[in-house]
Amino acid sequence: MKTLSDLDLAGRRVLVRVDFNVPMDGGAVTDDTRVRGALPTIRAILDAGGTPVLMSHLGRPKGAPDPAYSLRPVAAALDGLLDAPVVFCDETVGDQARACVDGAPAGAVVLLENTRFLAGETSNDDETARQLAALGDVFVSDAFGSVHRAHASTAGVAALLPHAAGRLLEREVAFLTRALDEPGRPFVAVLGGAKVSDKIGVIEALAPTVDHLLIGGAMAYTFLAGLGHSVGDSLVEEDRTDEAFQLLERFKDTLRLPQDHVVADAFSADARTQTVTGEIPDGWQGLDIGPKTREQYANLLDGARTVIWNGPMGVFEMAPFAQGTLAVAEALAEATREHDALTVVGGGDSVAAINQAGLADAVTHVSTGGGAMLEFMEGKTLPGLAALD
Ligand code: 3PG
Repeated sequence: MKTLSDLDLAGRRVLVRVDFNVPMDGGAVTDDTRVRGALPTIRAILDAGGTPVLMSHLGRPKGAPDPAYSLRPVAAALDGLLDAPVVFCDETVGDQARACVDGAPAGAVVLLENTRFLAGETSNDDETARQLAALGDVFVSDAFGSVHRAHASTAGVAALLPHAAGRLLEREVAFLTRALDEPGRPFVAVLGGAKVSDKIGVIEALAPTVDHLLIGGAMAYTFLAGLGHSVGDSLVEEDRTDEAFQLLERFKDTLRLPQDHVVADAFSADARTQTVTGEIPDGWQGLDIGPKTREQYANLLDGARTVIWNGPMGVFEMAPFAQGTLAVAEALAEATREHDALTVVGGGDSVAAINQAGLADAVTHVSTGGGAMLEFMEGKTLPGLAALD
């Protein structure tokens, strides 16, 4: 992959695909991890005398303008993080967007309106890619979180302009490649979250290479149900229990399931709770891994030299069910600090959890990719990366 230093940026309009698909509440950005992630590339372009013209999607509008998905609040968040002025363009492409880009003062950063307001963005329509490409002289791809999408702004424009990977994309690919291709051992993967169905591909890809694959979150109950355990009212993907059982059979030396659980009589922070080992009684649902599992997982992580973590261990947004996820976050920080382990965390919820624990700076790398990180780990061809070859 070419990088920023391979492009002539001075005096150029540098069209940059970033991933500013950030969580919002009441018109304000609630987690700016992805915005901060783009800063090294933006600053490098400014330092080289170029004008960054940023484009991104936000949410899933239906190919037409929808004020609920405007990037304007993200422009405000970016403005707060940069010394340079930020110019927000109400249009994504066309004459008005062109006038907005051309009229930006020297040293400014331009942010275009949501690329998914264009009907041809997600279909990677040629004309849409041409309209976007008309707003830049060169193209920089820095949206690691979107490289698994073959869209006009991620893949289409790369065919039309001289292009390179931005600093964030370079960093993401470097850390994940190092972890997957030359892991220090023991190599431990931690997978959590609600659904087994989202993680089957990644389990199949990782299980043969890692030393331990620790499973938590609601997806653990589909595995436990597949083994014939009682899981009470816990969330189970009934149509995946056989597949889960087969994964356990194939990878019995590597996969680890929680042995105890924090269970509740309702999905609520105010519910009655108890800790159970083994079977979960009817009327109760598992919402976090229990203390014995926390200790077992923390011990395995403490000895690790490489760790990849994607997906929380429980409903960490509710205090009574946050301990499992926090224990994993702390164990990663400890492995990084004490043993110089390479620790990579990704997926929106795990990143939110590590931020909540105040430990984002204590791990080696916090990935801005959710689905993109999973597909990268699965070894799939990612259209946004393939377009840069
Ligand atoms: C993400 O948040 O994973 C990326 O921004 C991709 O978003 P999408 O799933 O809507 O394409």
